[in-house]
Amino acid sequence: MNGHTDILAIESSCDETAAAVIRDGHEVLSNIIYTQIRLHTVYGGVVPEIASRKHIEKMNYVVQRALDKAGMKLKDVDAVAVTYGPGLVGALLVGVAEAKAMAWAAGKPLIGVNHIEGHISANYIEHPELKPPYLGLVVSGGHTHLIIVKDWAKFDILGRTVDDAAGEAFDKVARAIGLGYPGGPKIDACAKQGNPDAIVFPQAKVHGSEYDFSFSGLKSAVLNYLNHAAMTHEEVNKADLAASFQKAVVDVLVSHTIEAAKHYGIREVAMAGGVSANSALRAGMAEACEKAGCKLFVPSPIYCTDNAAMIGVAAYHEYMAGTRSGWDLNAVPGLKLGER
Ligand code: KG4
Ligand code: ZN
Repeated sequence: MNGHTDILAIESSCDETAAAVIRDGHEVLSNIIYTQIRLHTVYGGVVPEIASRKHIEKMNYVVQRALDKAGMKLKDVDAVAVTYGPGLVGALLVGVAEAKAMAWAAGKPLIGVNHIEGHISANYIEHPELKPPYLGLVVSGGHTHLIIVKDWAKFDILGRTVDDAAGEAFDKVARAIGLGYPGGPKIDACAKQGNPDAIVFPQAKVHGSEYDFSFSGLKSAVLNYLNHAAMTHEEVNKADLAASFQKAVVDVLVSHTIEAAKHYGIREVAMAGGVSANSALRAGMAEACEKAGCKLFVPSPIYCTDNAAMIGVAAYHEYMAGTRSGWDLNAVPGLKLGER
C-alpha cells in the first residue's frame, strides 16, 4: 500500500514456527523463526503433536514480531501467504488457520503456498538476477527432487528419490552413529574431522533411471558397517564414518545434477532445502559447476532450512500471476511440487 508489494508470510509445516514480511518478492523486511528443534531432540525426531501444540503457542508472537520488525501493521500488507503443504497436517493447520483469520479480518487476499516451491524461491532473495529456466536441486528432510524450473511456478521433474529423502538419510545415519537429532548439521560438523575416503559406500543411484536417487541402500550399508564393528569389537571412527557417508550422498547429488545440466544444456543451477546448507555439498557442487561451466546459486544457510521469507517470495510470484486462495483453503500434507 506504499508503491511496494508487501507480503506477510507464515510457515509451520514441520518444526519451525516462522513469519516474515517480504517486499517486492526479494527484500526481507523481517524473518522471524522460532525453532522447536530443542524440544524434539529428546525424542530423536519431530513428534507431530508436540509440533502442533508449540505452533499454537508461538504463532501469534512470531507473527507480531515479524510485523513489528518490518515496522508494519496488518493493515499495511498487500496479502497474507501461508504454507498449506506438504508437511505435517496438524502443524500446517495452525499456520493455515492463522493466515485465514488474519486475511479475513483485515480484508486482504490469501495465498496458499507450496512448501517445496518456497524452498526453491529462497534463491531469489539473494540472487534476484536468477530467473527461470534453470536446473534446480531440492534436498530437504522430506524431498529430493532434480527439476527444471521452467517458469516461476512451473516445474519438470527429472528425478526424485525412490525411498528416503537426502535429509532423512542424514537424520537416520546420525541417529545410528549416536550423533542425535537433527542429523544433518551434526554429521556436517563431525565429518570435518574425518576422512571421506576412509570407507567406500555404495553409490545412491537407481539402476535404469538416470536422475533418480535411492538412499536406503546407503543407510543400510552404514548400519551393516556399525553392526559388523560391534560384533568384531572394533572401534568405530565416527568422524570417518560421517565423512564417508556424507561423501556418498554428495557425490550422487552432484553427479546427477551435472549430468542433467550437460544433457539439457542448462548453464544455471540452483540448490535449495535444508541439506543445501551442508558444507561438503556446497563445496562439491561449486567445484563441479565451475568445471562444467555452470553458474551455481545457493541461498545462505538461514534460507536453506525452513523459514517464512522463502514462502513470501514464492507468494509474490503467485500474487503477481493472480493466484488467490479461497476461504476454504485447507492443509494438504501430501501436496506435490507443481500442484495447487
Ligand atoms: O528444508 P528443511 O529445513 O525441512 C524440510 O522441508 O524437510 O530440511 C531439514 C533437513 C533435515 O533432514 C536436516 O538434517 C537437514 O535438512 N539439514 C542438513 C544440514 N542442515 C539441515 N543436512 C546436511 N547438512 C546440513 N548442514
Ligand atoms: Zn522445508
